[in-house]
Amino acid sequence: MQKGLFITFEGADGCGKSTQMKLLKEYLLKKGYEIVETREPGGKGLGEKIRDILLNYDGEVSNRCESFLFLADRAQNIDVIVKPAIQQGKIVLCDRHTDSSVAYQGYGRGLDINEINRLNNLSTGGLKPDLTYVFDVDIETSMQRVGSQKDRMESSGKEFFNKVRNGYLELAKKEPERIKVIDSTKPIEDVFSDVLKELDALL
Ligand code: TYD
Repeated sequence: MQKGLFITFEGADGCGKSTQMKLLKEYLLKKGYEIVETREPGGKGLGEKIRDILLNYDGEVSNRCESFLFLADRAQNIDVIVKPAIQQGKIVLCDRHTDSSVAYQGYGRGLDINEINRLNNLSTGGLKPDLTYVFDVDIETSMQRVGSQKDRMESSGKEFFNKVRNGYLELAKKEPERIKVIDSTKPIEDVFSDVLKELDALL
């Protein structure tokens, strides 16, 4: 049986990570690997309901409440989707995970980062990704890619997204073994070849 792997895809909104996750999924399936795809917030069932609140609720949401909703969704994703798949030797590809909470709620919204790390750890039960990609683009490019149809998070403004982007880059400096920064302003195929280079060591 192949060894289970947990790979996460991160970056500011409009960074192109979902496209790259899809390409990697197709690539790995062709190579014969068993793949499970999930996302945070979301995944399936209850997770998708929490996602709907987080992205579409139009009343007041406090920053702490927002954090706990992301964490509740994460616990569900880990327990119901990620852990069982890894135990079965599958490769789990997850669109956003713990680093999103640090970048968005910590660096972006200004909540205490040590506290978020602690809560992240509680929500995952200590499980860490084997590899995390951070797809990095300048704010102008990411805003352009998001377009005018913005959800609740995407409506947070340019200054917020600058903080989020810098947060990701800080995180990558702190954990260079796990977090790989990919220049996502390049054409899709070139970005994907950088993605594969980082994966080689793991497979
Ligand atoms: P999504 O549509 O998945 O965004 P994208 O397509 O850009 O990945 O929406 C998820 C939004 O939730 C996104 O704006 C990032 C935000 N988010 C947080 O703020 N904290 C978190 O912990 C997670 C998982 C996501």
